[in-house]
Amino acid sequence: MRVLGIETSCDETSAAVVDESGICSNIIATQKVHEAYGGVVPEFASRAHMRQLSGIVRLALQQAGTSLAGIDALAVTCGPGLAGSLLVGLSLCKGIALTLGKPFIGVNHIEGHILATAAQLHKIDYPYICLVASGGHTLLVLVQEPRRYEIVGRTMDDAAGEAFDKVAKVLGLGYPGGPAVEASARGGNPDAIAFPRALSESTNLNFSFSGLKTAVLYYAQSLDPVEGAARLPDIAASFQMAVIDTLFIKSRRALEACGCRTLVLAGGVMRNGPLRKIFAARCGELGIALAIPAPELCTDNAAMIAQAGRQRLLAGERSDFSLDVEPNLSL
Ligand code: KG4
Ligand code: ZN
Repeated sequence: MRVLGIETSCDETSAAVVDESGICSNIIATQKVHEAYGGVVPEFASRAHMRQLSGIVRLALQQAGTSLAGIDALAVTCGPGLAGSLLVGLSLCKGIALTLGKPFIGVNHIEGHILATAAQLHKIDYPYICLVASGGHTLLVLVQEPRRYEIVGRTMDDAAGEAFDKVAKVLGLGYPGGPAVEASARGGNPDAIAFPRALSESTNLNFSFSGLKTAVLYYAQSLDPVEGAARLPDIAASFQMAVIDTLFIKSRRALEACGCRTLVLAGGVMRNGPLRKIFAARCGELGIALAIPAPELCTDNAAMIAQAGRQRLLAGERSDFSLDVEPNLSL
């Protein structure tokens, strides 16, 4: 079954084609319009999706060596995400499905992130734990069996990616914050400043990143400008290490609590180089099987939506034309 996937939940406009052989194309256009505002402006996001999406779909079909006539079904993100942005993707999907008389399915964006990594495992041992860390979400998900998810931990305030974005703003490093903090941290000492690992003593599996963000703000404000500039790499590296440690401590606890031996990582924060290395080393020591997404599959992309949708379509699921977007859709 050849599936055309569409993803427009936030600021990436993306279309992809997948079939039984894997990903045939995955075109991602990251909207630049938000950079000047230091964050995503919802109305600009929907307008940019509207302008670009049909061209991106055409490119995805072309690169996959096919056309709309060669598509068996469609998959589209229906939530969670920005309402106006989701509506652009869902409307185009319905238009194509109606014209071609082909089935379509609405996909949960978070399920897309999870399955994008899980698809890399040769054999998936259930149950497994998935750590999802993106700009909007930080979740620990127990995956009992295909398409059966239980959220066992979540952030009580900021998402991990949001913490990177906010700290980058505090440190004057620009947007998006994750890559900027990682670049600045390269010359720094991760042990230089003892930033807090919130809730690390607590037995629950929840996260909190707002105290860490405030600790970085107070630390940066305590330095004079010259000292602040000189210590920037140490601050970035120490903050980054605090996030990595926190994510690892809770993931390990979730694995133990749920009796799992496999950890799957998903979401934009997984692009972070030191995080990938540290998780690989620590999971190796503990004998935990670890799946890390390829960098281009960490951030939002339509291949992950097409893959997740394809699994559901193959299982016989379909959406109907009354499907609406759900900005707060849970897993
Ligand atoms: O999954 P994603 O593309 O979009 C959402 O669904 O939110 O994740 C975007 C988030 C942003 O907060 C961004 O700062 C973060 O992922 N991110 C990173 C890195 N690259 C992107 N965080 C840390 N290190 C990175 N290299
Ligand atoms: Zn995402």
